[in-house]
Amino acid sequence: MISFSKAEKKDFLDMIKVMRNTGYVDYSFPEKSDKEVETELLKSNNKFFICSDKNKIIGYFVVSKLKHYLDEAKELINLNEEFAYHFGIGIHSDYRRQSLALKLTEFVLENITQNFKGIYADVASNNFASLKLHEKLGFEKLIEYNSKKRAKGTKNVLFCKSFK
Ligand SMILES: CC(C)(COP(=O)(O)OP(=O)(O)OC[C@H]1O[C@@H](n2cnc3c(N)ncnc32)[C@H](O)[C@@H]1OP(=O)(O)O)[C@@H](O)C(=O)NCCC(=O)NCCS
Repeated sequence: MISFSKAEKKDFLDMIKVMRNTGYVDYSFPEKSDKEVETELLKSNNKFFICSDKNKIIGYFVVSKLKHYLDEAKELINLNEEFAYHFGIGIHSDYRRQSLALKLTEFVLENITQNFKGIYADVASNNFASLKLHEKLGFEKLIEYNSKKRAKGTKNVLFCKSFK
């Protein structure tokens, strides 16, 4: 049985295992142990949501405030600070193509409408699965730009979804 929920402290180490599977840990916390990553995540102001199969965590979604993110985009386009920043989503490789990312995102958006007016997501231009996912979820593509956080030849594609 698949379920969706907010992550609690007890969930973090298992969630980090999924983050390792998707490449999120290597990308955001290179060379850190699971325990070190847990400490970093717990002290962040981000909100974490998870997708579970019975009691096994198989997916995550990270929501942040926009304040500390998308600085390069902010130089190119006006962004609304009342929107959230979609810091990342991942589904374990054994569970992909079952609409779980779609359903997890819908669950998260329903849970953050009280606190934010919308959400921005930035996706690497070569991440075909994530580009398709955001289009399917009704995110609007705002701009495509070069970013220091992407490898040469890969652009950052900025999406947005308003909750109105
Ligand atoms: C991107 C990711 C979260 C998608 O998870 P998922 O549960 O397999 O996605 P879903 O089954 O909900 O797919 C929803 C839609 O997204 C698109 N999509 C998802 N995976 C795709 C793929 N490999 N190729 C093409 N389209 C894809 C499709 O339009 C799909 O709808 P469809 O199955 O009806 O065609 C998953 O591939 C992943 O964890 N990747 C590694 C981490 C990552 O890149 N995260 C995004 C950047 S933050």
